[in-house]
Amino acid sequence: MARSEGSICKLCLVCSVIANLFFGVNLYRGRRGLWGRNWSIDEVSIQGLSWSGRAAAEAESAAARECSGHGRAYLDGVVVDGRPACECNNCYGGPDCSLFLPSCFADADEGDPLFLEPFWKQHAESSAVMVAGWHRMSYSFSDQTTLSQELESLLRKLHSLVGNAITDGKYILFGAGSTQLLSAAVHALSPHNSSLPASVVASIPYYSLYREQTEFFNSADCSFQGDPARWKNTTNTTGDIIEFVTAPNNPNGQLNEAVLHGPNIKTIYDRAYYWPHFTGIPSPADEDLTIFTISKLTGHAGSRFGWAFIRNEEVYQRMNMYLELNTMGVSRDTQLRALKLLKVIIKDGGREIFEFGYKTMTKRWDRLRKTLSMSNRFSLQKVPPENCTYFQKVREPTPAYAWVKCEWEEDRNCIEILNAAKILGRGGSIFHDDDRYVRLSLIKSDDDFDVLISHLEGLVSGEDGAKIM
Ligand SMILES: Cc1ncc(COP(=O)(O)O)c(C=O)c1O
Repeated sequence: MARSEGSICKLCLVCSVIANLFFGVNLYRGRRGLWGRNWSIDEVSIQGLSWSGRAAAEAESAAARECSGHGRAYLDGVVVDGRPACECNNCYGGPDCSLFLPSCFADADEGDPLFLEPFWKQHAESSAVMVAGWHRMSYSFSDQTTLSQELESLLRKLHSLVGNAITDGKYILFGAGSTQLLSAAVHALSPHNSSLPASVVASIPYYSLYREQTEFFNSADCSFQGDPARWKNTTNTTGDIIEFVTAPNNPNGQLNEAVLHGPNIKTIYDRAYYWPHFTGIPSPADEDLTIFTISKLTGHAGSRFGWAFIRNEEVYQRMNMYLELNTMGVSRDTQLRALKLLKVIIKDGGREIFEFGYKTMTKRWDRLRKTLSMSNRFSLQKVPPENCTYFQKVREPTPAYAWVKCEWEEDRNCIEILNAAKILGRGGSIFHDDDRYVRLSLIKSDDDFDVLISHLEGLVSGEDGAKIM
């Protein structure tokens, strides 16, 4: 009797193991498993994951929409027929973005970094974020700060892997994009309670936000004064000067250096583009105040995340005060997203993303150069080759923007010429430079770039005296 009970127990155990194996494997690998494709929201939640299955199914269902390769559907997009509608790339339309709109404008205006979207599609699984309904509801982390320590250490590690910044001995702050940090930095470096406001300067051509922010916030402590050149040879300047140094520069891709030096000069280094996608990395930045952004590193401009390294404690405290009063730190959801993205990058020391970014930008520059080499009307900026300690070679820079010059005497307003050929860009005067220049964004989607090249080819081939291919 005892023997037969023992046998029954063993049989039950074996059956239970087999059943668990069957259902376990089926949960992940089965025809309708989580790793399969053909499952519905209800089925997933039934099959095991308690609260994330439904969310995962919803996310996959939106992301699975192909939109003919010329758009994408987002979870929070407008819902049509019960599912998020396709949002089409410029020049494509129709419910599934399959309709090419031949008379559309090529839009090379904004610096939207969608050139990295295909990279993230290739890393859909590792980069996806699942957020519980109760994720970090508190105003602060458990150490009473507003910064994720894990994210901070990943950022420091990333810079050490890429070799583009020395972070030891520096404070770190997070901002809602570098946009917020730029403003916090000007605030922190301006004298307080002084009758003499600081002069904020940036070398022409400069990123227009520096001027726009300083003028808009209209602080009694600082005012925008344009190009630093007029102070260059002056030894006894009265009052503080805050110089923005953008390296590589937006719009022309040059690795700018500070023009002004001295005891009353404070410098803000904007290194949004100091990544191997765009430039060689000759040496690590080791400055008193350096600002980076995820927007041009991973391409996630929409997440609004930037960070600053600050040497001086007082400057750090003042910037921190600004950020706390302004937004009480960066959204914890954004910090989680940034953490997830950085983990993907760091896994192989950045190799895959930087090679992808560099290759994509190189191909685009090759096509652009080839197109404009037929022209005697338009020319491109020249940026000298740089040694890249990351790729361990001397390489041509592949800036985010083309800084195009209209060479013909009569073409004084270059953006008008391009607009007439259905090309949108940003005129030189927006960067406080001559309107003979236009900035064309090269970091948008493949579709945007293809349409840009096609419109440029049309413009160049209609030129008097254009060279024949
Ligand atoms: C030089 C430079 N700095 C800062 C920014 C702002 O970036 P973010 O998206 O981090 O606010 C940009 C955006 O194009 C930029 O070109």
